[in-house]
Amino acid sequence: MPSFWWRPLGLVLGLAVLSALLSTGSEPGTGWALFAGGLGLYLLYHLRQLRKLSDWLASDQQAPPSADGLWGDVLYRLAKLLRARQGAQQKVTADLEQMLEATRNLPDGVVILGEDNRIDWLNQAAESLLGISPARDLGQFVHYLMRQARFSAWLSAEDYGQTLSMTSPTAPGKTLSLQLVPLPRQQKMLLVRDITEIARVEAMRRDFVADVSHELRTPVTVIVGFLEAFEDMPEPDPAQFRKHIPLMREQSDRIRRLVDDLLTLARLESEPDTRDESVDVPALARRLAEEARTMSQGRQQIELREDSTARLIGNSQELYGALANLVSNAVRYTPAGGRIELRWADAEHGGAVFSVKDTGEGIEPQHIPRLTERFYRVDRGRSRATGGTGLGLAIVKHVLQRHQARLRIDSTVGKGSTFAAVFPAERVIPAAAPDAGAAAPHTAT
Ligand SMILES: Nc1ncnc2c1ncn2[C@@H]1O[C@H](COP(=O)(O)OP(=O)(O)OP(=O)(O)O)[C@@H](O)[C@H]1O
Ligand SMILES: [Mg+2]
Repeated sequence: MPSFWWRPLGLVLGLAVLSALLSTGSEPGTGWALFAGGLGLYLLYHLRQLRKLSDWLASDQQAPPSADGLWGDVLYRLAKLLRARQGAQQKVTADLEQMLEATRNLPDGVVILGEDNRIDWLNQAAESLLGISPARDLGQFVHYLMRQARFSAWLSAEDYGQTLSMTSPTAPGKTLSLQLVPLPRQQKMLLVRDITEIARVEAMRRDFVADVSHELRTPVTVIVGFLEAFEDMPEPDPAQFRKHIPLMREQSDRIRRLVDDLLTLARLESEPDTRDESVDVPALARRLAEEARTMSQGRQQIELREDSTARLIGNSQELYGALANLVSNAVRYTPAGGRIELRWADAEHGGAVFSVKDTGEGIEPQHIPRLTERFYRVDRGRSRATGGTGLGLAIVKHVLQRHQARLRIDSTVGKGSTFAAVFPAERVIPAAAPDAGAAAPHTAT
C-alpha cells in the first residue's frame, strides 16, 4: 500500500495523542476541543479538494487541478483514466465515421430499414438507383416509395436467401438486383446492385446460342434431308447420289467454316494477349492482293498501294486472318467491274493504317455500328449466298483490340466502303528503325 495512506492516519493519530497530553495537564475539555478543531480543519481541507475535483469533472479542462498527497494521486489517476477513455472513444468514433464514409461511397446501394420497413439511412448509390431522397424520405415506409407489386411481395416475404431483379424506378434501362440482410434490433439492410451489364451479357449469351443453333440448322437440315432420301430409296442410285454431292459439300463446308470461326472467336476471347513478333505488313499486303485477285477472278480491278514500309509488332497469323476478312468482304460485296484498293500507309501520331477501299454497294449508316456484332449481316440472304458466316468482322474487331488498334468504317450507299485498321504508334516499327526481331546488325567483338 503506498505511503500516503499512512500520512493522513498519522496526522489524525498525532492530533489525538497531542490532545490527550494536553488534557492530562490542564482542563480536560481543552485537549478535546483542540482535537475537534483539528479534525474540523482536516475535514474542511478534504471538502475543498472534493469541490475542486467536482468542478474539474464538470469542466472541459484536460489537466487536473494541482494537489499533493492522496488527492494529487487520485486526481492524477482519474485524469489518466479519463484520457484513456477519451482516446478509446475517439478511435471508436473515427472508425465508425470511416465505415459510414465507405458505405456512403459504395458503388452498391445500401438502405437501412428500421421497424415496419421504414427508411433509417441510405447511401448515395441507393439514392440514385432507387430515387429515394434522404432529405425527403427518411422515416417513410420503403414500399410506399417503391410502388412495384413484386417488390412489396418480396419485401414482406423476408426470404433472405432470395434476391429480386427489377428495373430501376429512376432509369427504365437499368436492371437492379436487390437483397435483404438481417441486422440486429429488428433492422434490415437492403442491398441494391446495378446488374445492367451482367443482364446484357446474359442476354447476349442466350442470343448467341440461339444464333449458332439457327446458323447450323439450315445446312444440317439439308444434309440430313438428302441422307434420309437416299436411305428411303429401295435401290440406291449412284448417279442421283453424285448429283447431290456438290450441294452436300457446300453445306458441310458452311458448317466447318462456322465451327472454325467460332473456335477462332473462343480462342481470341480466352487468350488475353497476343504472341508478338515483327510482322512484315508490306509483304502481307502483297499476299492479300494476290489472293484477292484469285478470289475476284477478274471481276474487279484489284490495286495495291504500298505507301509505307513500316512493320508491325503483333501476331502475323491473327493479323493475316483479320485483314483477309476485310479483303474478302470487299470482293464479295463489290459487283463486277468495280475497283478495290488495298493500302498500307503511315497515319497521324506515328501510327499506321491498313485500308481496303471498294466501289461496292455501300452500307446504310444505321448498320455500321452493328457490323462487328456476331452474326450481324446487312443482308442475311446475300451474305449466306456468298458463303459468309457473319462472324468475320467480330473476329476482326477482337484481333484489332488485341493490337490496341481500331476499325474505322466509312461507307456511302451506292458508292462504296472503306474498312481501315488503324494501329497506334506503340505497335509500329518505322521503316528507318532497325528491326529488333530480324535484322539486328552483327558486330565483331
Ligand atoms: N465491303 C463491304 N461492303 C458492303 N457490305 C459489307 C462489306 N463488308 C462487310 N459488309 C457487311 O457486313 C456484314 C458483316 O460482315 P462479316 O465479315 O462480319 O460477315 P460475312 O462477310 O457475312 O461473313 P464472314 O466474313 O464470316 O464469312 C456482311 O454480311 C455485309 O452485310
Ligand atoms: Mg466477312
